[in-house]
Amino acid sequence: MYRIIDGKTVSQGVKDSVRDELTALKTEMGLTAGLAVIIVGDDPASKVYVRNKKLACEYCGIESFEYALPERTTQDELLELINKLNSDPKVDGILCQLPLPEHIDEKVVINNISPAKDVDAFHPENVGQIMIGEYKYLPCTPAGVMELIASTGTEISGKECVVVGRSNIVGKPMAMLLLHKSGTVTICHSKTKDLAEHCRRADILVAAVGVPNLIKGDMIKEGAVVIDVGMNRLDNGKLCGDVEFETAKEKASYITPVPGGVGPMTIAMLMKNTLTAAKSKLKQ
Ligand code: GUN
Repeated sequence: MYRIIDGKTVSQGVKDSVRDELTALKTEMGLTAGLAVIIVGDDPASKVYVRNKKLACEYCGIESFEYALPERTTQDELLELINKLNSDPKVDGILCQLPLPEHIDEKVVINNISPAKDVDAFHPENVGQIMIGEYKYLPCTPAGVMELIASTGTEISGKECVVVGRSNIVGKPMAMLLLHKSGTVTICHSKTKDLAEHCRRADILVAAVGVPNLIKGDMIKEGAVVIDVGMNRLDNGKLCGDVEFETAKEKASYITPVPGGVGPMTIAMLMKNTLTAAKSKLKQ
């Protein structure tokens, strides 16, 4: 018998706690929080994410500053904007929506965001902090996955954890967060010899590869916790995850749906990071 992990409910709880804490700090100390969101070009999926981030900011009481730049924006123009935001006291967090157009080097852009305002936790300095487990900002999607696992009451320590996917944004930091909770972590990727065999050993399985329905029920251990980070658009317009939900649910104890699982968590954790960024002003 499986149970659905409802990302909408868990993310609502995170956003509520950000809103409550920020409201209290506004009243007591006059604290404000601001998030700058930059989007370059017209990618429809990115536009939806950016709109949802703006709505979440409104809900939490965070001021959002949106910069929708045309596709033809040069790398220098983008860096100029980032430099301006780096020194703008009203801006606590800066997020540059990825992917960027091909003529812009993502790495250069990320490296130019002040680590103190890097609420995505993509800057090498923050990535390094994640490696040593002393993070100021948790990477949003992996942190959201950790909240979802926690919501099931599952203990991670000593469990077999399999992460499918090795991206810098999800797979690698995900493995680190599970490792810090003393999981025994395996990272699988496109060159992994027998993916099914690795997956079948997992007590906690996190799929983040971007291949629709790659993980099927016969690759899942009875009673596993299955987290699907995949968000794939099929030709018929429907969204689907990396896990074949219909067969996987027959094996899992807990499973996330797509949509409505990990997706809403990413934005909630971004709100949490922005609050952390704003609170650092109190220490100065
Ligand atoms: N594109 C897809 N996911 C993300 C994310 O978490 N942060 C940013 N900046 N861009 C993304």
